[in-house]
Amino acid sequence: MVWVNGRLLREADAVVSAFDHGLTVGDGVFETVKVVNGTPFALRRHLDRLVSSARVLALPAPDLVALRSAVEQTLAAQPDPTEGLRLRITYTGGTSPLGSDRGDAGPTVIVAVAPLVTRAPTSAVVTVPWPRNERGALAGVKSTSYADNVIALAYAKERGASEAVFADTTGRLCEGTGSNVFLEVDGRLVTPTLATGCLAGVTRALVLEWCDAVEEDVPIEALETTSEVFLTSSTRDVHPVHSVDGSALAAPGALTSAAMRVFADHAGAQSEP
Ligand SMILES: Cc1ncc(COP(=O)(O)O)c(C=O)c1O
Repeated sequence: MVWVNGRLLREADAVVSAFDHGLTVGDGVFETVKVVNGTPFALRRHLDRLVSSARVLALPAPDLVALRSAVEQTLAAQPDPTEGLRLRITYTGGTSPLGSDRGDAGPTVIVAVAPLVTRAPTSAVVTVPWPRNERGALAGVKSTSYADNVIALAYAKERGASEAVFADTTGRLCEGTGSNVFLEVDGRLVTPTLATGCLAGVTRALVLEWCDAVEEDVPIEALETTSEVFLTSSTRDVHPVHSVDGSALAAPGALTSAAMRVFADHAGAQSEP
């Protein structure tokens, strides 16, 4: 069952207008939330980020009470409450004229779920030839304009990897297509600052709060000399990387193992971190 604009519908009936502004011009924002035993993990943080993403696009402020209720009702309608799920909230500019001007019909709200896909225990990543534009209007925004990520992820898959990593326009390490990056630098655990244009990942923030890690910018070439790398995202948690551009890495190395342990302990202990 999928929530569309206030109604819970079967997947086949869950449709939006062909004139929706999220569709052709990418005028929308979204969140992906992990659901464990029926409970969305860190939902408050995801809703906060949806609000800030919507603000950047000058979309009307999302009604968070209504959104929480939509999430609850969508989850309550799932056949197996114990199944691990990914839940996606999409919030677009709504039905609009052709072109970049937004219409005044009001936003489209969609809440959809799918089973959480089990990933391999470690990932290979490749760096991509296209930069993240840390000075662009959408820097750090979880918008539905994600085609850069689609292209980069396909590039990684063609090379046998499961994630692609971007530099920013100045050559600093930035992020993956759907993940943040942590790496060892001089024995410390480091992740790029938000100045690189990376998304302020919910998982990244929790790792920074719970583990001994710092925000620091490094050239993307730091991936060639580091001893360990991991990715973070709502569906990966802390996910070890076993190779970068074909060069093997310890996976998980000591810093990654510690972060995985601390993350699992804290995440299990808190319902709303
Ligand atoms: C571009 C990008 N960076 C980072 C992340 C990780 O963010 P989070 O930990 O909030 O899932 C995502 C999530 O999908 C993403 O799309």
